Amino acid sequence: MRIDAVSIFPSYFDVLGISLLGKAQGRGIVDFHVHDLRDAATDKHRTVDDKPAGGGAGMVMKAEPWGVMLDRVIADSGVADPLIIFPSPAGEVFNQRMAKELAKEQQLIFGCGRYEGIDQRVFDEYASRYRVKLVSIGDYVLNGGEVASLAMIEAIARLLPGMVGNPESLVEESHEDGLLEYPSYTAPASWRGHEIPQVLLSGNHKLVAEWRHQQRVKRTREVRPDLLETAEDKAG
Ligand code: ADE
Repeated sequence: MRIDAVSIFPSYFDVLGISLLGKAQGRGIVDFHVHDLRDAATDKHRTVDDKPAGGGAGMVMKAEPWGVMLDRVIADSGVADPLIIFPSPAGEVFNQRMAKELAKEQQLIFGCGRYEGIDQRVFDEYASRYRVKLVSIGDYVLNGGEVASLAMIEAIARLLPGMVGNPESLVEESHEDGLLEYPSYTAPASWRGHEIPQVLLSGNHKLVAEWRHQQRVKRTREVRPDLLETAEDKAG
């Protein structure tokens, strides 16, 4: 998969070079390209923002540099049908289901807005030519799309084939079937007076599986009852 990110703070994306994502890049599973939006500005101050039309507080990102940069990224990558994602608190909420869908794409382009946002005509123009999605990572407001893009990139890239050493670990994790993950333990059996639940030391795989399932349902009911409604069929 090819992933592009456009930002006025490209160094936010330096972390893509470390850990699993860095290894995935090295192994050709994912191909990251980060672009400085200011490289597409034409004046000597490399201006990318201006006052909002109609007045009001803050600044709005100008359409022209976005147009130049997105056209350039799309032309250079040679992918005919990229999906352009603009992180935005006004977007559809990102979740594991969306991560799975996005992991099937050939190219994702993340357009990171700052200030009061991007001129609406950028969305309108690209939505008329390509697939465009506004995506929120939750009901809170960040200073820009960079951190939101990084969260989405990590959630998506770890689902790519060959990315996670043991694919089994993807099957049993939180949100995989709408339930949260069961609690995990490792040696020693007793630590500061806290014991590993006996059933996990019993060697009885059936009982262990039942206990883990109960724990997942209990945890989900306690902290995310909203998830249970959709997970009910699978929870049994
Ligand atoms: N930009 C600012 N806040 C955001 C959020 N919650 N999700 C995605 N992008 C954002």
